[in-house]
Amino acid sequence: MAPPRPTPITDEEGHVFRLLRQLDLAPEASQRSIAEALGVSLGTLNTRLKSAEAAGFIKISERAGPDRRQRFAYVLTPRGAAMKNRLTDRFLARKLAEYEALHAELTGSSSGLVPIKHRTELMQNNLAPIPELYVSYESAQKLKVEAGELVSHDLTPRQICDLELLMNGGFNPLKGFLTEEDYNSVVETMRLADGTLWPMPITLDVSEKFAESLEIGQDIALRDQEGVILGTMTVTDRWVPNKAREAEKVFGADDPAHPAVNYLHNQAGKVYLGGPVTGIQQPVHYDFRGRRDTPNELRALFRKLGWRKVVAFQTRNPLHRAHQELTFRAAKEAQANLLIHPVVGMTKPGDVDHFTRVRCYEAVLDKYPAATTNMSLLNLAMRMAGPREAVWHGLIRANHGCTHFIVGRDHAGPGKNSAGEDFYGPYDAQDLFREYQSEIGVEMVDFKHMVYVQERAQYEPADEIEDRDNVTILNISGTELRRRLQEGLEIPEWFSFPEVVSELRRTRPPRAKQGFTVFFTGLSGSGKSTIANALMVKLMEMGGRPVTLLDGDIVRKNLSSELGFSKEHRDLNIRRIGYVASEITKNGGIAICAPIAPYATTRRAVREDVEQFGAFIEVHVATTLEECERRDRKGLYKLAREGKIKEFTGISDPYDVPENPELRVETENVDVDNCAHQVILKLESMGLIAG
Ligand code: PPS
Repeated sequence: MAPPRPTPITDEEGHVFRLLRQLDLAPEASQRSIAEALGVSLGTLNTRLKSAEAAGFIKISERAGPDRRQRFAYVLTPRGAAMKNRLTDRFLARKLAEYEALHAELTGSSSGLVPIKHRTELMQNNLAPIPELYVSYESAQKLKVEAGELVSHDLTPRQICDLELLMNGGFNPLKGFLTEEDYNSVVETMRLADGTLWPMPITLDVSEKFAESLEIGQDIALRDQEGVILGTMTVTDRWVPNKAREAEKVFGADDPAHPAVNYLHNQAGKVYLGGPVTGIQQPVHYDFRGRRDTPNELRALFRKLGWRKVVAFQTRNPLHRAHQELTFRAAKEAQANLLIHPVVGMTKPGDVDHFTRVRCYEAVLDKYPAATTNMSLLNLAMRMAGPREAVWHGLIRANHGCTHFIVGRDHAGPGKNSAGEDFYGPYDAQDLFREYQSEIGVEMVDFKHMVYVQERAQYEPADEIEDRDNVTILNISGTELRRRLQEGLEIPEWFSFPEVVSELRRTRPPRAKQGFTVFFTGLSGSGKSTIANALMVKLMEMGGRPVTLLDGDIVRKNLSSELGFSKEHRDLNIRRIGYVASEITKNGGIAICAPIAPYATTRRAVREDVEQFGAFIEVHVATTLEECERRDRKGLYKLAREGKIKEFTGISDPYDVPENPELRVETENVDVDNCAHQVILKLESMGLIAG
């Protein structure tokens, strides 16, 4: 595709650009040296400084100090930094066009890549630096102080991932969180308002309260979870999105079984803010620092290594022999070097944690021929959006200097929908990628489904085995692998590398040694606490793992004493229980929870918190309202009927009956011991306790 013709830059824009660039690079310099650097008189410099200040691009303040030549201090405002970034892009585009024209004249070639035999070598597009949103180190120091005065937004973990890739160019050509116009266009057409291909809405979702406190045009500071200012944003847009529409168009269905749709409705704020971002510093990572690269760092590495063609492999799973074989073949086929580019930001809930995975990748890296392959970690927050996600992944890899991209069967698939069917067809992602390939700028290498042929002791693409009736084809699915790990069974060497298996075993002990959470839910007086107590005693009798009971009343006394029974307070109460239970589960203990937990969405959120670390067993104590009211052990139903207790579950507040709990126990005419025993049997059948 021919690059778009760059728009001409006016003289005025040229002056603004040079001034902003100069102040960005040397904000401490004296007026005289700035004027010298720009080649203008002091008078002209003053006029330009004044008009930049009037336009809101810089802030000028007086500086106390002995040196009169350094009387003033200059700071780029977020708006000024955004303007500088925009103009840098246009300058770069113009320079590149001039360079290409000159190159064509010198070499006699019209455009595009030039054979090596020509004397002047054109820098490949994929290896040239790309624009970032960061200001210089010197400016960042000053801007950070200024930004300390701004209203702050505390970024969510997903927003931190998005911001990192916005700032470092991974989401190039985006210059900030999407505006309303770009958002609508991306949702409907997979393109920004100017027509550029971009399939994924990158939005800054916030609460209504925060959104209302802002004015359009206001600058806000974007802070990480520890309060560090990573960047600023000028809020140009604020709107309430149609989330159902976003879900339908981007994820293919407004179905909460899709992790990103669930996030959209139950975690993301109600209002979106949009506007240009100015980068101050990268999010801090303490783990695997040497393995993390920005797009420009990777491009520089490829230039240094002389890698002209690079095929990227995206993954959120550990690599086994089949993947190694597949990636190796893909690289050979494309005659390219290989970049293993795993996602370590946010992946699908329940995936193997990235610490374990990276240790596994490092073990596999040695199995490739020396100097052909590299690994770099990508701090992306995946959305599991299948076809759209594949196109997005391709664009991100193009930004990281890759020329080829492996797209497999069911790329970035979210699993089954509420009806138990796949959200996307197995090859939808490949089809969509193929359609947009030239615009994405990387070539697709489609995934070969590799299987192990026992007689030949090697992996082969399943569709290329001609004597399939005469050979033994072996394969272990992901589910089967999890089962074997959970039950401590053998995992053969033909399937995976011993180093990888031992890493996985270290972090995934067999189920009977893992932590888990039993979460009782039911009406007040249904018998949750009594059964929970009996279960606790039975588990303690068995021994092996510490058991903690988080009973509704105990929690309300020790963790949630300030909370009442409004929806907001109940949610907070249950999320606290979920948090503690997930920590217990993570550390190999057994958590037994017994709150009413009346809302399905909150129970689901707790399930997700826990399932990152171990099993979550929802037990519905299904005593009917009539029976609970008849028992009325605490006399609360009577008071609720008399209106003396407000918002009482079942009487004046709702209870969402669990649709698919792991277990439902009836308590009428069944004794407590039997109810607790039913739970024990369920735990046994799930392999969580030894039979
Ligand atoms: S929730 O909804 O999950 O936060 O409730 P929970 O923390 O389990 O607390 C429920 C116990 O509080 C007593 N109680 C009420 N329950 C429901 N609605 C209202 N308005 C209310 N006010 C007080 C009641 O004793 C519950 O105890 P259990 O053990 O469930 O009977």
